[in-house]
Amino acid sequence: MDRETQLTNASLMARRKAAIPRGVGQSHEVFIARGENAEIWDVEGKRYVDFAGGIAVLNTGHRHPAVVEAVKAQLDLYTHTCFQVLAYEPYVELAERINALAPGDFAKKTLFLSTGSEAVENAVKIARAHTKRPAIIAFTSAYHGRTLLTLGLTGKVAPYKTGFGPFPGEIFHAQFPNLRHGISVDDSIASVESIFRNDVEANRVAAIIVEPVQGEGGFNAAPAEFLQRLRALCDQHGILLIVDEIQTGAGRTGTWFAVEQSGVAPDLITMAKSMAGGYPISAVVGRAEVMDAPIPGGLGGTYAGSPLACAAALAVLDVFEKENLLERSRQLGIRLTARLTSMASKNPCIADVRGLGAMVAFELCKGGDLHQPDADLTKRICAEATQRGLILLSCGTYGNVIRILVPLTASDAIVDEGLAIIEASLTAAQAA
Ligand SMILES: Cc1ncc(COP(=O)(O)O)c(C=O)c1O
Repeated sequence: MDRETQLTNASLMARRKAAIPRGVGQSHEVFIARGENAEIWDVEGKRYVDFAGGIAVLNTGHRHPAVVEAVKAQLDLYTHTCFQVLAYEPYVELAERINALAPGDFAKKTLFLSTGSEAVENAVKIARAHTKRPAIIAFTSAYHGRTLLTLGLTGKVAPYKTGFGPFPGEIFHAQFPNLRHGISVDDSIASVESIFRNDVEANRVAAIIVEPVQGEGGFNAAPAEFLQRLRALCDQHGILLIVDEIQTGAGRTGTWFAVEQSGVAPDLITMAKSMAGGYPISAVVGRAEVMDAPIPGGLGGTYAGSPLACAAALAVLDVFEKENLLERSRQLGIRLTARLTSMASKNPCIADVRGLGAMVAFELCKGGDLHQPDADLTKRICAEATQRGLILLSCGTYGNVIRILVPLTASDAIVDEGLAIIEASLTAAQAA
């Protein structure tokens, strides 16, 4: 087929609909031509500020020069061997650096994979191999991925699980704490204990997996006390604690790992997304003796820990140090929260502004009543924003939360431009 010379979003949407299954969703009918830091240009030349960051993948922005340079240098050396066939230094160096970053005063090892779901799958495999136990406890509103095991862990049915069951057995869901909806930390811990009474003995549970701030679930932050009590419960019963930092990690919340802010050292941590600034790589880092439980050959994958992605991830770590991005994340969080809180004071439909560091969201409800989530208004605000040149993303169990994942490298001027578009879109969407 000849390539179209004059691409438009509409013509590409038509081709997409004919060629690609509808199950692959698309938040915006926009096709990108070029991206740079926190800005993108579509195929029609229209410019947008990007507050979505490819769903939490671009903490260092589109095409950070240092990341591009590192990948180009790697391209000129070798691009693939499969690490299990011929090993390479960037994989080893990246593991060493992540081992040094992960919380916990104990020896650690790191395994690389390609996607977040794969990291979660492997964390569960490792936990089962180490404990020789089958069961896993996850939480309501959790999101851990789209493969069958990770869908089993995910705590939201539509659209992720619809039509895809049965899911693997021995997975149980406890309640995630959410004080706005009347679920205290005590309630959550009690719901884990009730699983031990009603569903599975504690000594058959391999691991509890938790997001320190639920991403797809609506940017619900786990209180530090909750993570500390989960740690204690795990220690009491010989259960491993897996913390899923796939969305929260790589500095989004103001520390490299969000769990650091609770003082808890997990046995295993999963990461992906922003760790390589847009290149596909994921990781499981954990206690050395736990990570060594699977026998040689039990872990790996053809593309797992690709040299290009390892080079990108090493560059991302350098950029964080050079540009002091953890501090930037904290400052950005303050800026975003202040402006959104001011919008909430003028717009009762904003029922809540919340988050951790630069992982910030606002929840939309009819009349500000948390029991009346307003998914329609949320969609209208996102559509208005797209028209005005801002890419936004929603999330939340009821689809009524707008999350901000702007690159940490964005200037204050660009961030303020995006916030002004949110404010204008709020007004327009309510008038519509
Ligand atoms: C917390 C969390 N875990 C796992 C995943 C799955 O990652 P991937 O889409 O790379 O498989 C995601 C993706 O959004 C996530 O946010």
